[in-house]
Amino acid sequence: MNHKSVAIDGPAGAGKSTLARRLAEKLGYLYVDTGAIYRTVALTALRAGADPADPARVVPLLEGLDIRMGYGEDGVQRMYLGGEDVSQAIREHRVSGAASRVSAIPEVRSFLLEYQRRLTREHDVVMDGRDIGTVVLPNADVKIFLTAAPEARARRRLLELEQRGEAADFENILRDIKERDYQDEHRPVAPLKQAEDAALLDTTALNLDQSLEALLSLVKEKVE
Ligand code: DC
Repeated sequence: MNHKSVAIDGPAGAGKSTLARRLAEKLGYLYVDTGAIYRTVALTALRAGADPADPARVVPLLEGLDIRMGYGEDGVQRMYLGGEDVSQAIREHRVSGAASRVSAIPEVRSFLLEYQRRLTREHDVVMDGRDIGTVVLPNADVKIFLTAAPEARARRRLLELEQRGEAADFENILRDIKERDYQDEHRPVAPLKQAEDAALLDTTALNLDQSLEALLSLVKEKVE
């Protein structure tokens, strides 16, 4: 059977994961957060004391890597590293920067490519990341490039951290977001960019419900 796939790419903090998860729920598809997979590799590097930007240290770690993705009873994706649930640990601030670093290493990308493609052979998926429409699923049924102004993304992130009771500073968050955008857009392999046949959705002026509505109508146009 031919499985359906929706590819959602875009920069950090555009609301991809929340929107992709809710879209997947509405469609009854599997939600795959590929950033979480890169984050798990980054956590492995940090735990091994390896510089996440150094291929000579990171690539050898791939060989013994036991990464698994699962779903909790709440339907939320969980990441397991050697059987340990690292879903919380991969969200730490230091892991975000490290994930952006390890994801620039070509061997890391090719190692994870087949894993991601296999999931789409087995399920209808909504998959989000940076290179899903361009590299991982060039034949996706629907491709969406989701973005928002850096300031809007930083504001949302600030709110999220405040709601979790974590101290945060707007200027620091904005600087981190811009730095990560730059790294993700300028790496030589599979950089973040809009696929030619992707629809652009800018959520700067939209709230979550409005963004979800816009996403749903884009998907319905293509899939039905
Ligand atoms: O979406 P995220 O913030 O969890 O992703 C973490 C990092 O992983 C991001 O800075 C770039 C990288 N990434 C990638 O290179 N390709 C993907 N498909 C997903 C994430």
